Order: sequence, then structure tokens, then C-alpha cells
Amino acid sequence: MSSLDDFAAITLRDEPLAPLTWMKVGGPAQRLIQPRSVDELIAVVKTCHDHNIPVRMLGGGSNLLVRDEGVSGVVIRLSHPVFSQVSVSGNRIKAGGGALLSHVISESVKAGLAGLDTLVGIPGTIAGALKGNSGGRNGEIGEHVHSVTVVTAQGEKFVRQGDELVFEYRRSSINELCVVEAEFELTPGNADEIAERMHKLWVMKKSTQPLSHQSAGCVFKNPRGLSAGALIEQAGLKGMKIGLCEVSDRHGNFIVTEPGAKSSDVLKLIDVMRAKVSEAHGVDLELELQVW
Ligand code: EPU
Repeated sequence: MSSLDDFAAITLRDEPLAPLTWMKVGGPAQRLIQPRSVDELIAVVKTCHDHNIPVRMLGGGSNLLVRDEGVSGVVIRLSHPVFSQVSVSGNRIKAGGGALLSHVISESVKAGLAGLDTLVGIPGTIAGALKGNSGGRNGEIGEHVHSVTVVTAQGEKFVRQGDELVFEYRRSSINELCVVEAEFELTPGNADEIAERMHKLWVMKKSTQPLSHQSAGCVFKNPRGLSAGALIEQAGLKGMKIGLCEVSDRHGNFIVTEPGAKSSDVLKLIDVMRAKVSEAHGVDLELELQVW
């Protein structure tokens, strides 16, 4: 049976995760492993499975809060270039799970393919975007998916498509451990027109969200028919601070952090936001942010 020591060449021990997240807070990973091929990824996953070692996939770190104590076991990151290949063929674009959504969007627009451009401004990787069905008012990634190649926690690889793929608000049926590749079916159009439309969306988004600050996007999901940001604002929480973390005064559903902030303070602020919104509106907010 292989052991994790077999992967020393691609392993970093006690590696800080904060720099790999948008919030820039939290502790280290006991082992951060960055495979160089799908086969190597499968070997790592199988070894973790055989030895009952907890394993987590780190994407772009844009919807993630790591606790100050860090995480034990293995964190896998698909950072090797082999996982971020992007290729266009006809109306389809294929992308590795580690590719940045923003890169795939720009490649699709350059190729004169419309669809993904509506996701402009959304950070993260293709794998993360598919698992959480990233999107906003103008569309969601799930609308454009043709097929997805996954690797399970047992180390089996297969392709999901058609009715094996279901996308809902900030959720998808992809519950396997890793997304290694995805293919999108897009609509042909004029590259310049698509780029112009995309630019307008980007400007609009920048005016309502604190995109230049350290943050992890929206903290809570929108309750059906309501806006979490508006509920938080009405509860008087904008600008509220705990330690070096603050409820954004631009958008109530964002927490922004300053360098040196603690994850425990972000969690305290989340608790206060939840409690105050429940008190003021009788609504229980559900976290969108993942907490490790
Ligand atoms: N609003 C306020 N105060 C605030 C924030 C918003 O009153 O502090 C009001 C706005 O004026 C507007 C309404 O609430 O009338 C909706 O706000 P916004 O248009 O900013 O959209 P949102 O529902 O807060 C959603 C997504 C965003 C996505 C935007 C734009 C969720 C939880 N959020 O925000 O996604 O970028 O639409 O498409 O679904 C994310 O998920 O991380 C995220 C940023």
C-alpha cells in the first residue's frame, strides 16, 4: 500500500493557507499536495482513502474561510498547468478544473462565444464554480455545462452529463471530490459585441461590491425572494467591526478583512450578523461561504 511519503516531491508541510484565500486569514494545512497529472491526483486520493486521511480540495479560495487552527490531513490544489488547460472547438470550450473562471470567460469571449460572459467578475476556479453553481443576477455557470469529468473520494474517474448534472441556486449535483475537467456549450456571436456587453456588466458590479478589498464574496445565500445584503443593512450592521474584520459599508453581505485579521473574528462577526438579522426580520441566514 502506498503512503503519503511517496508524494514528498509534491507536498508542502504545514503550509499557510491564508495567502491562498481571498480573505487572507486562517492557519496552515498539515499537508498541501499539488499533483502534476490526473493519474498522480488519483494516486494521492486513493492513498488518503486507504489510510482514512481527511482530504479537501482547495480551488481559488474565493469562497472560503480557513479557521485560525488550520486543517489536519491533506489539502489538494490543482495548481499544476496540466489542470488549467483551455481549448475551444466549434461552439464548445473545454477547461481544466484548476483553470480560473475569469480566464475561461476571456478565452470564450475572444473566440466569439457567448454565455460565460455573464459571469464576469466572479472569482475562483472552474471546479469551485461548478460545485457551487457560481452565478448572479445575469446567469449561472450550470446553464452552459455540457459535461464534467470528476474523480471520486475513492479515486475513480468518470464523466457526468445530461440528467446526471443538476444545478440549483448556489448548489449542484456534483458531489464527487474533484472536478478535473469540464466542457461548456456556448452560443456563437460577435466577439466585440460580447466583450462590450461584458464590460458594462463589470462596471455595474464594481459599483455595488467591494471588489478591491480582502473579502470572500457574499457571506450568506439570499433567502428565497429576499436579499441578504439588504436584510443586513436594515439590521443596522453595515460598518460593524470585530477586530480587523468589518461588514462592508458598500454591500452588507460582504465581510472585508485587513491584513492581520483573525478567522475567529470573522466567525464572531458572522454569528452577530445571523443573530441580528434573525432578531430584526425573523429570517435565518444560511452561509454561502465555506468554513474549514
Ligand atoms: N442591497 C441593499 N443593501 C446592501 C446590499 C444590497 O439594500 O448592502 C439591495 C440592493 O440595492 C438591491 C438588492 O439588495 O436592491 C440586491 O442586491 P445586489 O444587486 O447587490 O445583489 P445581491 O442579491 O446582494 C447577488 C449575489 C452576488 C452577485 C449579485 C449580482 C447572492 C448571495 N449574491 O447579490 O453573488 O454578484 O447578485 O449578480 O446570491 C456571491 O455569491 O458571492 C456574490 C457576490
